[in-house]
Amino acid sequence: MNTIKAVVFDLYGTLYDVHSVRTLCERLYPARGDAISRMWRQKQLEYTWMRCLMGQYKDFESATVEALRHTCGSLGLALSPAGEASLCNEYLRLAPFADVPQALQRLRAAGLKTAILSNGSRHSIRQVVENSGLTSSFDHLISVDEVRQFKPHPEVYQLALDTLNLDKADILFVSCNSWDATGAKYFGYPVCWINRSGGVFDELGVSPDLVRRDVGDLAARFPVAGALENVS
Ligand code: 2OP
Repeated sequence: MNTIKAVVFDLYGTLYDVHSVRTLCERLYPARGDAISRMWRQKQLEYTWMRCLMGQYKDFESATVEALRHTCGSLGLALSPAGEASLCNEYLRLAPFADVPQALQRLRAAGLKTAILSNGSRHSIRQVVENSGLTSSFDHLISVDEVRQFKPHPEVYQLALDTLNLDKADILFVSCNSWDATGAKYFGYPVCWINRSGGVFDELGVSPDLVRRDVGDLAARFPVAGALENVS
């Protein structure tokens, strides 16, 4: 088995906590922050998948705002233009999980390339990474905007290959979203599923090569010899 040369991360939920928007949701809608944040994220994902299936691409920021409107409508909450703008802006200021900055440093110190491959637009990805001060932790920020499809469409996973100019087996794809890990595995990448919440992997016919508690755990026990099948 080849040695892993690059680690490609999903962004939302894997490196950055999508539910860090809960604080502002809670401030604007007391006692509803958690419900809003959860429904908002779920709808946002559904809208990307539906737009991909329908061939009606609009970028991730559109999915974010449209999902927010639907969420507030469903929960019977009034959404002012100013509230909408500040909540969507919060999606550009997501907090990285605490283990992430040091884990990225550790992987890069081991000589690995690091990249993000995200359903986010170019603008969203750049903003989130810049706002968290982690720009220098990545060699590449890769957006689905290039192909106007969303993960788990195979054309998106191809983007990382084209950008890194490596073989599939050289790239470890890392995601906390089991639907995304599944898409990457079917595409042919070795895959690490980050299971922060003790969840159950999707029943879609494949399993991840590695399961790690968080990105820090992945970096601390990185399979340096590349023999993924021998690592548990
Ligand atoms: C991503 O970052 C949406 O979490 C997904 O691509």
